[in-house]
Amino acid sequence: MKSLSLLLASLILSIVTLSLYTPVAAVLSTKSRWIIDESGKRVKLACVNWPSHLQPMVAEGLHKQPVDVISKSIVSRGLNCVRLTYATFMLTNESVASLTVKSSFESLNLTDALQGIGVHNPSLLNLTLIQAYHAVVSNLGENEVMVILDNHLTVPGWCCGYSDGNGFFGDTYFNPDVWIQGLQKMATSFHGVSNVVGMSLRNELRGPRQNVTNWYRYMHKGAEAIHTANPNVLVILSGLSFDNDLSFLSSRQVQLSFTRKLVFEVHWYSFSDSKPWSTLNTNQACAKTSGDFMGHAGFLLAKEWPLFMSEFGVDNRGVNDNDNRYFGCILAKLAELDLDWALWALQGSYYLREGIVDHGETYGVLSADWSTSQNSTVLKRIQALQKPFQGPGSIFPLHQKIFHPATALCVTRKSTHLLQLGPCDQSTAWRYTEEGNIKLRIGFSCIKVEHAGEPVQLGIDCSREKWELVSASKMHLASMNMSEGNRLCLDVDRDGKTIVANPCNCLSDNHNCDPTSQWFKSMKKDWNAD
Ligand SMILES: *[C@@H]1O[C@H](CO)[C@@H](O)[C@H](O)[C@H]1NC(C)=O
Ligand SMILES: *[C@@H]1O[C@H](CO)[C@@H](O)[C@H](O)[C@H]1NC(C)=O
Ligand SMILES: *[C@@H]1O[C@H](CO)[C@@H](O)[C@H](O)[C@H]1NC(C)=O
Ligand SMILES: *[C@@H]1O[C@H](CO)[C@@H](O)[C@H](O)[C@H]1NC(C)=O
Ligand SMILES: *[C@@H]1O[C@H](CO)[C@@H](O)[C@H](O)[C@H]1NC(C)=O
Ligand SMILES: *[C@@H]1O[C@H](CO)[C@@H](O)[C@H](O)[C@H]1NC(C)=O
Repeated sequence: MKSLSLLLASLILSIVTLSLYTPVAAVLSTKSRWIIDESGKRVKLACVNWPSHLQPMVAEGLHKQPVDVISKSIVSRGLNCVRLTYATFMLTNESVASLTVKSSFESLNLTDALQGIGVHNPSLLNLTLIQAYHAVVSNLGENEVMVILDNHLTVPGWCCGYSDGNGFFGDTYFNPDVWIQGLQKMATSFHGVSNVVGMSLRNELRGPRQNVTNWYRYMHKGAEAIHTANPNVLVILSGLSFDNDLSFLSSRQVQLSFTRKLVFEVHWYSFSDSKPWSTLNTNQACAKTSGDFMGHAGFLLAKEWPLFMSEFGVDNRGVNDNDNRYFGCILAKLAELDLDWALWALQGSYYLREGIVDHGETYGVLSADWSTSQNSTVLKRIQALQKPFQGPGSIFPLHQKIFHPATALCVTRKSTHLLQLGPCDQSTAWRYTEEGNIKLRIGFSCIKVEHAGEPVQLGIDCSREKWELVSASKMHLASMNMSEGNRLCLDVDRDGKTIVANPCNCLSDNHNCDPTSQWFKSMKKDWNAD
């Protein structure tokens, strides 16, 4: 009797505890190209990078807002995870590892920032750097944000230069043994911390020493070291050439003693290869850089290996032409492949970057004072990619959506006959037939073109309604119902919503012509989902 009531009491207690605090996706693993939770359902990483690897070795922004406010600002923007960077010295270098937050800022003469931390996060001041890092992870956990620990470099500071001594195994500051020690300490230190779901082995390998043979050799060692110390975390491997290149994996697989934990990461910015963006027609630039991306990294998905776009982003002020051209292109790719991703970056400013106190971050989600969004238009386009469209556990795996990257909305039905842009999670399901019709997935209606400048319509007689992808980017959907010079393409009307047909625009040549209002991308149907 007594033991029964005891059991009952502990049951009630555990139910109460559970409802008070639901831990986030405790242990993730991989299945085919997907990251899944313990129930086998897909978990899509929609992360933001939050640096903690610059000279003070403290997560940025804690002098401007309480850590809990920052965590909540991440959650309120629909992001579910943080790629939290760190420098190896925080763990392996005695003189650095013994610093407190206070002494670290003092040693850099960052008196204003120190004062700000005293105001907004006083409980952190007396902690050592690793304790403060733990406190940030723990607060993210309380807010149900997953964390990926990212080894960004060895010596704290801004990253990454081609020959800054932190780029590849054997460089001045990149002793492989010290690196392994750091990874082991980090993996051990966060063992059992349930919101830590993954560890990146090293950011952006690069420089004159980079070498495929040594990549396999040391990545193998690093991956095994992490898994031994902490078998729960995903082990995330970065490519060569600033993490733009994993092409060497096409001929040789990574051999590890464990399975279902390996993920690859890749970075893609407009400046990864700026020349196409600054010289070519935007369709051609998108075709060229997307093709390179598929050949260097995207091909891994077809081999059923998970790929994580762990850095991408744009200048939020809208003043960088290359970024503006690139943005629609990468959004289309992220949507089509339904990749896991981590945006660069959260921070509106840095304590100290490249010698400048309170350095701004034009790629940041947050404003310089960390209180609001730097550009809600940019943020909205990224938010469209937060939910999974495909993969294990998806409800409508066979739906084709037609994504419009310029607005990050999808083609939906407005009425029986008319179409408009709407949120992609409420998108109408489409199918593309062998005859070249774009039809409702269920039913016979197809998209029909009427006259230039007028809304397209849903109709029944589809025999003449053939559509083809005509530009190099393969994102212009042109009606083949007209002679070549008069072709009409799907477009969005001046109201920013209604789907119309307009003369196909900016197909080639003119570098300055912006084609993106006519860019539509079909999100592929599910593959390897089961
Ligand atoms: C430890 O860090 C300090 C400060 O950056 C540096 O001067 C020193 O060389 C480092 N020690 C080792 C063993 O790397
Ligand atoms: C900090 O200020 C002191 C005194 O002005 C100076 O001697 C020292 O070099 C400064 N340190 C740094 C890292 O700027
Ligand atoms: C930090 O430690 C100092 C003494 O080392 C103490 O005076 C101060 O009150 C402590 N601050 C906090 C916030 O714990
Ligand atoms: C890569 O490094 C290995 C071992 O250090 C060496 O034998 C090989 O020649 C290097 N390859 C290239 C292409 O540099
Ligand atoms: C936000 O970005 C858009 C382009 O993406 C730009 O046109 C606009 O000026 C930006 N707004 C601010 C406040 O920077
Ligand atoms: C295009 O379709 C319209 C109506 O569906 C038809 O009247 C017209 O002849 C077609 N044009 C061509 C070139 O097939």
